[in-house]
Amino acid sequence: MISKSLKLLKVLVLLLMVSPIYAQQGGMWIPSLLKGMNETEMKSLGMKMSVSDIYDVNSSSLKDAVPHFNGGCTSEVISPQGLLLTNHHCGYGQIQSHSSVENDYLADGFWAKSLSEELPNNNLVVTFIVKIEDVTAQVLQGVLDSDTEAAKQVKIQKNIATTTQTFPKELWEENKIKSFYEGNQYILFVTETFKDVRLVGAPPSSIGKFGSDTDNWVWPRHTGDFSLFRIYADKNNRPASYAADNVPYKPKHYLPISLDGIQEDDFTMVFGYPGSTQEYLPSFAIEQILKELNPAKIGIRDAALKVTNEFMRNDAAIKIQYASKYAGIANYWKKWIGESQGLEKSNAVAVKKTFEEDFKQRVAKNKQQAAYGQLLPDFEKLYREIAPYSLSRDYFMEVVLRNTELLTAGFKLYQLEQAYLQKGAQSFNDRRSAFIAAQEDFYKNFNKDVDQKVFEAVVALYSQKAPAAYLPKELQKIDVQKTSQSIYAHSKLSSYDGLKELLKGDAKEVFKRLNKDQGYIFTKALAANYFEHIAPKYDALNLEIAALQRNYMKAQLELYPDARIFPDANSTLRVTYGKVNGYAPKDAIYYDAVTYLDGIMEKYIPNDYEFDVPQKLVDLYHAKDYGPYAENGKLPVNFIGTNHTTGGNSGSPAIDAHGNLIGLNFDRVWEGTMSDIYYDPAICRNIMVDVRYILFVIDKYAGAKHLIDEMTLVHPKKK
Ligand code: ARG
Ligand code: ASP
Repeated sequence: MISKSLKLLKVLVLLLMVSPIYAQQGGMWIPSLLKGMNETEMKSLGMKMSVSDIYDVNSSSLKDAVPHFNGGCTSEVISPQGLLLTNHHCGYGQIQSHSSVENDYLADGFWAKSLSEELPNNNLVVTFIVKIEDVTAQVLQGVLDSDTEAAKQVKIQKNIATTTQTFPKELWEENKIKSFYEGNQYILFVTETFKDVRLVGAPPSSIGKFGSDTDNWVWPRHTGDFSLFRIYADKNNRPASYAADNVPYKPKHYLPISLDGIQEDDFTMVFGYPGSTQEYLPSFAIEQILKELNPAKIGIRDAALKVTNEFMRNDAAIKIQYASKYAGIANYWKKWIGESQGLEKSNAVAVKKTFEEDFKQRVAKNKQQAAYGQLLPDFEKLYREIAPYSLSRDYFMEVVLRNTELLTAGFKLYQLEQAYLQKGAQSFNDRRSAFIAAQEDFYKNFNKDVDQKVFEAVVALYSQKAPAAYLPKELQKIDVQKTSQSIYAHSKLSSYDGLKELLKGDAKEVFKRLNKDQGYIFTKALAANYFEHIAPKYDALNLEIAALQRNYMKAQLELYPDARIFPDANSTLRVTYGKVNGYAPKDAIYYDAVTYLDGIMEKYIPNDYEFDVPQKLVDLYHAKDYGPYAENGKLPVNFIGTNHTTGGNSGSPAIDAHGNLIGLNFDRVWEGTMSDIYYDPAICRNIMVDVRYILFVIDKYAGAKHLIDEMTLVHPKKK
């Protein structure tokens, strides 16, 4: 008891040390720069390792076990033979690509019984970080305050190119430079990318995607969101393209797995590649997201999803065609709704405004009026100016590029036509066959009736709700039904054969024919309007805003030297830490931090497409056959913590105080999805699969004990 309150006291003191007005909590930190404030904070939360166990250039460390998974997710090595763990939703595309009606690995799961059964994947890579180096001085060399923004960017790009080329690395490695703190810091990463990554195992979707869209972004959760891969290397343990005689990669480090489980208040650390956040926006920007941009995007997706859902529920073939697209569109639709609610509930705009008042005072007190005094008024003016362009842009992007497939296809042809007009017929001829081949999959999953109804719903919204002054004239007095009936009856874009027919003959003929196609004419009008009347102004204003944001960041770093200011996520390796912790989302409601298999049985709806449970799991539940993976007779499934994560952190390892794997990150709680813009420690939680559930599924459900035997299982609490 005493030690616990002492710990709490230490945390409190730490939090008080930071400037109280600086409300920012959470944080995604650069692994090579944890010494000092982070290390102290992590230790006060219970961490027993030192920060050199997390990142070290000279000897192996945790970072050597955590590669970026295909650029979008995170993964971790969990055996000396390159066995790799990530989410089911991260490996979804690969699992799907090996599936057929006879061998439906999405529905039934897949388990390779030996190395020879592991399945190679085209275009799947994992990238390790070898070294992290601050190169700010090199990148900003010769850049003058007096330069125009455009001139600065030219110099910076040139310096980046030279530094990337000259920084020492091994032949098979790569150098990449990324901007941090909105361009106030530049960091170089030496990386190593493996290209032969094979599928080893996946549970059925009724485990890996249990709860599907209904449970997505929601706590309490019960999803076994994991899949297993293996990294293969050449005989020298170096990256190589797929070859039958490649061998399992021998990692510099792999994560031991703790069988001791977690308890409320335990230290946790999540190590991975968060994609992007916007934690330092001024209040004006958040107001715009809340009042205009999110409602517009949510409205469009709402309409599109309703139409698609109706078709999917009534037609099994359409359900398969649209399952993955629907999940993708629903994922951010649901996230934005949660984000807006969270921003409201946590009074994010008011909190920012209070901070902005304090900022003004600090600027004055420090006599920095000349450098920073105009920042907030300039932001306000620019955000007011950009508002109609941002909104018009979102309507265009969501309607044309994201939700109406015929228009998306039309837009790709528009880009081909632009290339043809600028670079000539050769450029078109070079791209034609690859383009046609690439469209085959698109049309395999395309249903004209679904798309026509989506068109009607979202084009109507576009014409009624987007800023009138920037609407293409084709949308100004449109009869949406008549237009859609005519387009979908006549346009050749609505079938693969039609597309191939459109693209026959020489370039001149092709584009002449295209420009008579109603679907193409309509898309082109919308695209041309966007590129003429919206994009140029949007891009110019956005460049000015980016420059302001860089200066605003610089000002905050200078004026709040003790604040915990972390760089926004940018798909680079970060450490975030916290503890296992429940939360109170609403008055009188408190959510515990851990869910159990019992909860799966509570949600079980036989044969439901979201909440069905495989019979074998039901049987194991009734027999209480949990092996060594249970705790007091109950099998833990998911848990939550105060780690600050975002998209890209999926598949990230949750690590205990000693550096052992305890869970697999895959989502956040509904009330906390605004953490990309405003992190509120009271309601922001990340969701992880308990590693014991993963082991249980591999061992007891799938009978793949040979995989467990590769791993190192430990008991850190029972030492
Ligand atoms: N919300 C999680 C993330 O943003 C999981 C998404 C995958 N699951 C789904 N039902 N779409 O990626
Ligand atoms: N589900 C997300 C991902 O795929 C993680 C998150 O947004 O919390 O990366």
